[in-house]
Amino acid sequence: MPEPRRLRIIGVGPGDPEQVTVEAVAAIRSVDYFLVVDKTGVTGAGPDPLFAARERLLARYLEGSPTIVRVVDAPRERRAAFTGTDEQYRDAVADWHRARVAKYVDALTSRAGDVGFLVWGDPAFYDSTIRIVDQIAELLPVEVDVIPGISSLQVLAARHRLVLHEVGRPLHVTTGRALGEAVAVGHDNLVVMLNRDVAPPELDDWQIWWGGNLGTANERLVAGRVGEVRTEIDAARTRLRETAGWMMDVYLLRRERPGRGA
Ligand SMILES: C[S@@+](CC[C@H](N)C(=O)[O-])C[C@H]1O[C@@H](n2cnc3c(N)ncnc32)[C@H](O)[C@@H]1O
Repeated sequence: MPEPRRLRIIGVGPGDPEQVTVEAVAAIRSVDYFLVVDKTGVTGAGPDPLFAARERLLARYLEGSPTIVRVVDAPRERRAAFTGTDEQYRDAVADWHRARVAKYVDALTSRAGDVGFLVWGDPAFYDSTIRIVDQIAELLPVEVDVIPGISSLQVLAARHRLVLHEVGRPLHVTTGRALGEAVAVGHDNLVVMLNRDVAPPELDDWQIWWGGNLGTANERLVAGRVGEVRTEIDAARTRLRETAGWMMDVYLLRRERPGRGA
């Protein structure tokens, strides 16, 4: 019996080639080719900057030129009218995942060999590659493994010299979309990812530690009381979009109260 081919899900950190682990480099070197999603044209913007970032990362760690099979991303429903409720949002994501699975299966059946999926940051945080590859594994005889990566939230903490939670206390990790709901049920120490904007005005008295395009040459950091630094963060976000062509940000948000210490 031939060995089943391997699909390797490789966390590659949030942008800095220095933040790719030794284990990830070994995995990168072990596969025959990479399936890389290209979002060029999907959102109407220019070329996908993260596709180019992955190419640069491979060039850094591989001697010859890598074999990259480009998969044009499936369209995703983002219109508010069709994603407003949590159920609609989950359905839209599920449709998008199914379309991605079909594209990956097409690519995998037309080319043999072990395959690497390069996942931004760590595959366990707000990334669906594991779920998508699990769906592929129901359709094709493959073995799947996951190599952890450094997540953007770890880089955020390191840059601000922070412990993300207080002594013996929890940390809630959520999205900009679900932030209001998390605060309403009492979470007061949160990491927020996938942001459309920064914390809302109701949280002006909270503390924020913000990081944009962490691990890249354009990295920006801001910390302070939300109400006092919001303008600075908004300006930094705009500037990043202009200079880098992309902007991703993550922040820790904490309600200040007397006696609180990390
Ligand atoms: C689809 S999620 C992927 C998260 C990723 N798996 C991780 O572990 O960081 C994308 C979100 O991660 C955060 N992010 C990823 N890379 C980042 C970076 N270099 N700087 C700041 N935030 C980043 C942002 O909140 C962004 O919206």
